[in-house]
Amino acid sequence: MNFKEKNDIYVNIIEERLHNIIPEVNGYCLDIKEAMSYSLLAGGKRLRPLLALAVADLLDKPLQEVVNFGCAIEMIHTYSLIHDDLPAMDNDDFRRGKPTNHKVFGEAMAILAGDGLLNMAYEIMINDAVESKSIEKMRAAGIVAKYAGALGMVGGQVIDLQSEGKTIESERLKTMHKLKTGALIKAPVEAAAVICGAEKKEFELLSGYAANLGLAFQIKDDILDIEGTVENMGKNPGKDSSCNKSTYVTMYGIEESKKLLETVTQEGISCLEAFGNKAQFLKELALSLVVRDR
Ligand code: IPE
Ligand code: IPE
Ligand code: MG
Ligand code: MG
Ligand code: MG
Repeated sequence: MNFKEKNDIYVNIIEERLHNIIPEVNGYCLDIKEAMSYSLLAGGKRLRPLLALAVADLLDKPLQEVVNFGCAIEMIHTYSLIHDDLPAMDNDDFRRGKPTNHKVFGEAMAILAGDGLLNMAYEIMINDAVESKSIEKMRAAGIVAKYAGALGMVGGQVIDLQSEGKTIESERLKTMHKLKTGALIKAPVEAAAVICGAEKKEFELLSGYAANLGLAFQIKDDILDIEGTVENMGKNPGKDSSCNKSTYVTMYGIEESKKLLETVTQEGISCLEAFGNKAQFLKELALSLVVRDR
């Protein structure tokens, strides 16, 4: 099976689970369910759950073991996008090829839709852990909470906002990227590794891969903000400069950013050496993210 075929299989499993992950509701709950589903089911690359499935595959464990966790992290990621797009943050009008959540449902409902997705994600992970009586799944839920929170993605978003219109140190920029984006990319890899019983060394290598992948992913996001198109990305380019964001492009320029993207990606891939052919998909995934146009 080639990379594209495997990717499509993973994405189909993820989409199927996401389409029934928010339970049937009635009455007042219909409005919040509609707002949550609007952003969650709008597509997106599904990179985070994809990573969870690929790690399970690499460790020879059934994909079903990690589908709930992968999709729960996708819910947390989607909430982070809804809030990231709010007028108080990046003030974006377009996301995943559609008007942003607050443009359709209003700011208050968009905040609540994000809150709803975040909390439902934990409900799904904890119920899964309890039903399978799995201490590993409880640990994995703790890992996700750490990476989603104030010392993870939320903390990165704080640095992002504090850095608007300022010249910052290169180490701070790297930390910001590792947190605001890298944390929720490490989360599915580490959670899946724990659930699938990875050995300590395997865990460390996979975590190293994910850390580099996360940094590379945000460097590419910064580049796409200059070079990408709204048709391909489903979100508006040019937003970083209009918000005076500190990015890899403002710090290093486009060409140097592209070199750093290559270097960081290769560092990530080098963490997979020990897994041999089993890591083929994860290697190709890292390479595909360097040349992505969405
Ligand atoms: C966008 O994430 C925000 C960042 C963390 C860079 P993605 O580029 O993964 O967005 P979707 O999920 O495909 O919409
Ligand atoms: C996003 O960073 C990080 C999040 C936690 C959502 P950006 O603000 O650069 O993401 P986009 O470009 O709006 O997708
Ligand atoms: Mg932002
Ligand atoms: Mg943004
Ligand atoms: Mg961006």
